[in-house]
Amino acid sequence: MSGKSAGKKLRLGVLASHGGSNLQAIIDNCEAGNIAAEVCCVISNNKNAKALERARRHNIPAHHVCRAQFNSDEELDQGIVDVLKRHQVDIVCLAGYMKKIGQKMIARYRHCILNIHPALLPRFGGSEMYGRRVHEAVLKSGERESGPTVHVVDEVYDHGRILAQKKVPVMPNDTPETLAERVLKEEHKIYAETIDKIARGEIELGE
Ligand code: GRF
Repeated sequence: MSGKSAGKKLRLGVLASHGGSNLQAIIDNCEAGNIAAEVCCVISNNKNAKALERARRHNIPAHHVCRAQFNSDEELDQGIVDVLKRHQVDIVCLAGYMKKIGQKMIARYRHCILNIHPALLPRFGGSEMYGRRVHEAVLKSGERESGPTVHVVDEVYDHGRILAQKKVPVMPNDTPETLAERVLKEEHKIYAETIDKIARGEIELGE
């Protein structure tokens, strides 16, 4: 996927399970004109996700799509793809989405699904590395730096091409919470910046 053609905004579909502060940062940057993109739909597996509420507040279609609504994992996978297609989404942004992405979605949006991870991949990634655990592992390792990674999603957890990283210091007295807060602040900037670079063709995602 190359940069947008003149005047055409990149259409984003965001998947989020909980708070959605990254979603909010993306919406705010789109609305402020800092990113040549618009959030066209938000999907959550969790009907109580604050992310859905945030979307509604901005008049963005908010969809609760979960396994219980379908007969199989494959149908759920297709159900999510159907919503994204209906909104003519170009790029899928995972922002704290706690479910594994299905094969159909990866095939349909190959190279065009992004994720943000709260540590410097390839370290501190994988299926068990989410939320507080990531920051606990960083602190335990004695690393002096951490920070967010934006990467392309493929079949393997936290594995696809790294598009951007930002280092922040790990302080001697950090707790998982204080480190998470420092990293999250940078997540909000780097996710928006990376999407903007894609929108402007500065980062090419490939066909
Ligand atoms: C972020 O830390 C992100 O790196 C991870 O999930 C968290 C989501 O936070 N993938 P929020 O819902 O965007 O506030």
